[in-house]
Amino acid sequence: MSDNAPASPHVTTCTCENQPALRVVPLPADLNPAGDVFGGWIMSMVDIAGSVAARRRARSRVVTVAVNSFVFKQPVSVGDLVSFYSKVVAAGKTSVTVDVEVYVERNPENAVALKVTEAKLTYVALDRHGNKRAIPPEE
Ligand SMILES: CC(C)(COP(=O)(O)OP(=O)(O)OC[C@H]1O[C@@H](n2cnc3c(N)ncnc32)[C@H](O)[C@@H]1OP(=O)(O)O)[C@@H](O)C(=O)NCCC(=O)NCCS
Repeated sequence: MSDNAPASPHVTTCTCENQPALRVVPLPADLNPAGDVFGGWIMSMVDIAGSVAARRRARSRVVTVAVNSFVFKQPVSVGDLVSFYSKVVAAGKTSVTVDVEVYVERNPENAVALKVTEAKLTYVALDRHGNKRAIPPEE
């Protein structure tokens, strides 16, 4: 098996040429009692990463209105380099929907990125008074 081949049919690898919205290494304080990274920590980072793409598209602040789907495909371990990639997949009148994919690089000597989580979230654009505002045309 080459270094870049998936470890199993259920493992997706990433060439990861795009820049992630967020890249972070979880610490021991982020673990659950079983010793894996707490799912709530991952959800929080996914929400932040999704908002990066949404606010760029909305050109305003945004709030999360819905987590449409969220799949934990593989556990995350302390010390993994975790990268969050976010991409706008739909824009409505006031809302922006974003896909977030999460990959880990576990072994610095063999930096294969494995997909661990995927999610779809919807954000609503707000003006400075906290009212919904229209999504501007794409630049
Ligand atoms: C987000 C919020 C401003 C929306 O206000 P609202 O008057 O209920 O909004 P609407 O029902 O008009 O929906 C606004 C947009 O969100 C979309 N939306 C609302 N509920 C949704 C859901 N469950 N799933 C997907 N999209 C949804 C609507 O389709 C609409 O999109 P469009 O304008 O592009 O067609 C309001 O619900 C709110 O403040 N929620 C709390 C946000 C928050 O605290 N988030 C957590 C911290 S960031």
